[in-house]
Amino acid sequence: MISWNRKHLLDIESLSAEEITLVLETSKAFKAVGERAIKKVPALRGKTVVNLFIEPSTRTRISFELAALRLTADVINFTAEASSLKKGETLKDTARNLEALNADIIIIRHSASGAPHFLSRFLRGSVVNAGDGAHEHPTQALLDVFTIREKKGRVAGLNVTILGDILYSRVARSNIWALLKLGANVTLCGPSTLVPRVFEQMGCRVTYDVDEAIAGADVINLLRIQHERQRQTMFPGIGEYTSVFSLNKVRFAKAKPDVLVMHPGPINRGVEINSEIADGERSVILDQVTNGLAVRMAVLFLVTGGHGPQGVVA
Ligand code: CP
Repeated sequence: MISWNRKHLLDIESLSAEEITLVLETSKAFKAVGERAIKKVPALRGKTVVNLFIEPSTRTRISFELAALRLTADVINFTAEASSLKKGETLKDTARNLEALNADIIIIRHSASGAPHFLSRFLRGSVVNAGDGAHEHPTQALLDVFTIREKKGRVAGLNVTILGDILYSRVARSNIWALLKLGANVTLCGPSTLVPRVFEQMGCRVTYDVDEAIAGADVINLLRIQHERQRQTMFPGIGEYTSVFSLNKVRFAKAKPDVLVMHPGPINRGVEINSEIADGERSVILDQVTNGLAVRMAVLFLVTGGHGPQGVVA
């Protein structure tokens, strides 16, 4: 197995299949640690982790915080609303001030695509992308493929359908890169305004026939409509979207009996997915959240000098 030698995690696009697999194997080792009575390890003792979230988050922020605590790091949660960003301080000055306070890792979520890459150009410490605009959300994709591999035993050769708002979704982009690199067949489905055929150039199949997209899938990953990033109305209304594209009981009856139902959250129940399916036996939505903790422990460990699963000491 190769050894990890990156200081930052900025995207999935630049990772090789071997690097993704190394993160998954390291995550597996950390998941085992999390199932023990004593869940803490000293891997980041003495390090300071800053959660620099300039956009709302529940799962990612809390998961990174808990991951850092489990690794024995000191954690600072930056609250944009209560910060000097409100007084006109720039992102660069904010980040440099955090570094002056000895931040070793800055985990950033920002509405601007490229914000983590920008920080990585001048910060001495590590930068981890927790979601940048509609660009990428690498740890979400890593936890998604980790969950698929855990439940299905493999990723290569599986048919994965991503259904919903693809155009504005950083989760979709990171998932597409990860899934294709690991050998899955990726189908994208949703309204044509939100699933342009340009995604075919990445190697995906695009279809607007939702029944067909569901019928052949081993995995269905639902995405919500990202209203916060849409500058204009992309379809006639939520009612029409739900009637044509929602994963409801009638459509789900045509899915494979062993299909996995995934969603990165937050869920808009009754819009992109019926509540009974979201909470049903094929749903792994909460497993994704659980696995996110192990994956984020692995990422924090690797960007601070960990080389792979062999370095995970209980
Ligand atoms: N999946 C995800 O990024 O959720 P949050 O926005 O709650 O972090």
